[in-house]
Amino acid sequence: MVEDGSYDFGNARFDLNKPADREILRFILSQALYGEATGVFCGKSLYSADSLEAARFYVRQAKQELAHLQLFADIFRALDMVPLPAHWVIKLLASHNNYYPLKVLMEHAIGEGMVLDIFKDILLQTLPDEDPRVPLIKKKLRVVCREEIEHVAWGEKETKRLLHEKPWLRTPYYGLIELQMAVLPKLVSAFEKRAGSHPVLAHLPGFLEHVRARVDRQGKELGIVPAARPGTAKRVYAMGYGVALFVRSQFARSKSTLEKTYIDELGLGLRRGLDQGHAGARTEPPGGSSQSVKNHSVNGRGSERAIGDRAST
Ligand SMILES: [Fe+2]
Ligand SMILES: [Fe+2]
Repeated sequence: MVEDGSYDFGNARFDLNKPADREILRFILSQALYGEATGVFCGKSLYSADSLEAARFYVRQAKQELAHLQLFADIFRALDMVPLPAHWVIKLLASHNNYYPLKVLMEHAIGEGMVLDIFKDILLQTLPDEDPRVPLIKKKLRVVCREEIEHVAWGEKETKRLLHEKPWLRTPYYGLIELQMAVLPKLVSAFEKRAGSHPVLAHLPGFLEHVRARVDRQGKELGIVPAARPGTAKRVYAMGYGVALFVRSQFARSKSTLEKTYIDELGLGLRRGLDQGHAGARTEPPGGSSQSVKNHSVNGRGSERAIGDRAST
């Protein structure tokens, strides 16, 4: 592990002129492109946003995901590559969930957390700086990473709030994290046979273990994963509960609340005069939410350092 908590790929680099290496990168970038395309759907969450802070976040996120999509398209063009269809694991992990408690945990906190692992750890470390196309690509990736950190922090903040309001979510949340970790190796199974002969792929088992351990830490910091791993029966029960909640979530309809709360959210409610000093307790000033999100990053990494720190290594 390197200083900022990223996995250490040592000096392993891809060679952008080797067809075999380009094919591996094409696979990774294609998953990223699909993830960014579905990330744009977060705009749908505006309908179920239950606070102005949430509405501001989803407007900003939708703009950022659209920009990421374009940035990855630019990377494909710069490398003269054509995208592949997404892997089924990515399709599963990136599917939109209308049920807000699952959305914030699975999409933002865990899903975008793993996206960050791939962008920050794999791409920023293993793209070769000697290639003239790479510095600009890394510059774009650092922008994406900075914004993904915000998305993860939002997911963590909302997950903690929901756990406080609905402590029963802890068990299905835990089961879903266990399941997400179980499907993760399927994503790289296509490369396992070649793992021994490629400097970057040789790190895959170590990287997967690093991601699993980081998510485990993140789950513990969020109060979801128990300090000591439960026995098989408890884990199976949690996973069953998680699956049941996931299945139910597929039939969940978005419920809007902002049209019922906007007056209070704007600090214009009847109690305004009485609560003048506290009127902004839920409602942040424009631009304020971004900072609150930035200051709330746990994501199993401790405090994040600047993305650029790893970029040129
Ligand atoms: Fe993104
Ligand atoms: Fe994102």
